[in-house]
Amino acid sequence: MEFRSAQRAVLQLIEAVAPADRPALLQWMRTTRDFDEFTQDNNDIMLKNIADDLRSCLPLETMLASEPVALQKIQQQPEPTVHVDAFLYDEDFIDSLCEEGRMSRNYCTVCGSQQTAPLGFISHSFSLMELKFIYHHILPDLSGKVLVDVGSRLGTVLYGGYLYSSAVQLYGVELNGDFCQLQEMVIKKYQFSDRIKVIHADIRTQGSLLHSADVVIMNNVFEYFLNETEQASAWEYISHNLKKPGSLLVTVPSLEDSLSGLQTNIQLSSWVEEVPLNYDVYSQSDIDKEALEQIHLYKILQH
Ligand SMILES: C[S@@+](CC[C@H](N)C(=O)[O-])C[C@H]1O[C@@H](n2cnc3c(N)ncnc32)[C@H](O)[C@@H]1O
Repeated sequence: MEFRSAQRAVLQLIEAVAPADRPALLQWMRTTRDFDEFTQDNNDIMLKNIADDLRSCLPLETMLASEPVALQKIQQQPEPTVHVDAFLYDEDFIDSLCEEGRMSRNYCTVCGSQQTAPLGFISHSFSLMELKFIYHHILPDLSGKVLVDVGSRLGTVLYGGYLYSSAVQLYGVELNGDFCQLQEMVIKKYQFSDRIKVIHADIRTQGSLLHSADVVIMNNVFEYFLNETEQASAWEYISHNLKKPGSLLVTVPSLEDSLSGLQTNIQLSSWVEEVPLNYDVYSQSDIDKEALEQIHLYKILQH
């Protein structure tokens, strides 16, 4: 059936519904996840188009001169490490860049010789697979809920939330003004502004936003971007302001790992309860299960 006939059929069906039941049907059509299976393909394509747009605005390493701390921290890793943004470059893309000689998976241990060792890769964004795991398998139905992505960078969590969830509002808080501008560009082009808002700020100034959040996402926000004293103060701020009982916190890596080595007074057992996750939801062999296992879910406790 073509679009016009399908549209007429849907309208006729709605007209045939008892008038008293129509509001409930329309409400269900606006908020249900039952249509997800019909729209997922389109949503994946839209996210891939966004990745194309962002790739054309950014250097291959997807790091900017305006983030000197992050650039320096990558250089200080014990093993030679490069940043490859997992939202912009999936494994197939990396393979084709390696074939073209524009990227390498290895570095030379003795300059000029054949002896090579694998380079360390880190990503400052979630991949498409991780986003789908979070929205389809970790989080509940987000109808009417407010989601905050702390450190929204390219905006991947926000676009994923727009397309894969029914969250009523998705807020991104990002310290770096250049990345805020990129997010604004995507929001405008793809007409996401009815549900996505980006705030150019340090999360340590956003107490009321954290109070209102039903879901907070934190993908390794501070480790590469702040020194240890600032990381500790940012975590203290989050734990004081993310207090609404029952709200959900998604982190990479676990809270224990993020806080280890930092001087804080945070008592995890009186703030949150970890919710166990099933990481075996995908059967395909090319799934990066190690990346999924870094994702943790917590529920904020009554205090
Ligand atoms: C690893 S990226 C996360 C990107 C994105 N949330 C995702 O998962 O695809 C972390 C981002 O947090 C930002 N950031 C670091 N400290 C911050 C702070 N105190 N307030 C707001 N943003 C911060 C950094 O500039 C960086 O862009």
